[in-house]
Amino acid sequence: MKHLTLLLILGLLLSCSETQKRDLLVDDSGIKAPSELAQLMRVMEAHADACRQAIRNGEGLPDAPMGIEGLITAIPTMGMHIDQQSFPVFARDYQAKIEALYAAQDMDRESPYNAVIQSCTNCHLSHCPGPLMKINKMSITESR
Ligand code: HEC
Repeated sequence: MKHLTLLLILGLLLSCSETQKRDLLVDDSGIKAPSELAQLMRVMEAHADACRQAIRNGEGLPDAPMGIEGLITAIPTMGMHIDQQSFPVFARDYQAKIEALYAAQDMDRESPYNAVIQSCTNCHLSHCPGPLMKINKMSITESR
């Protein structure tokens, strides 16, 4: 029983990245490209990494991530299941957490930053578990 649960979890973890490899979009030149949503995710991930670095070094935040106003309508990888009820809720939560991060004072950016990462986790738990292991490591954990 325990093994079965483990296998199920493993299958779930692999499901998102597997789909991405199988169903990459092919453009006119025949070059495989990640979906619009996957490209946006890479921008969001790089932005969060840059914020984490800036906060740790006591520097100013980088510019807000480009294109996140289109998060709800960005086209996902073919065959990827997007839940029409919960996805927009998770997306708006991420957008709100980004706004709150930029509204925060310089001295108090860790918890709003961690709230951004929590919003990544919340959506990924139900939509694309593959990157969760990476996302889990993105929170700022050390206390000052
Ligand atoms: C509203 C839901 C949602 C939120 C919020 C969200 N993600 Fe995603 N993420 C997805 C979905 C769905 C995919 C799969 C996209 C596809 O394959 O088209 C994805 C894909 C990814 C990928 C793989 C991209 C690739 O190269 O294929 C990474 C990495 C990622 N997300 C990281 C993050 C990080 C970091 C955050 C927060 C800063 C975040 N995500 C916030 C839903 C979300």
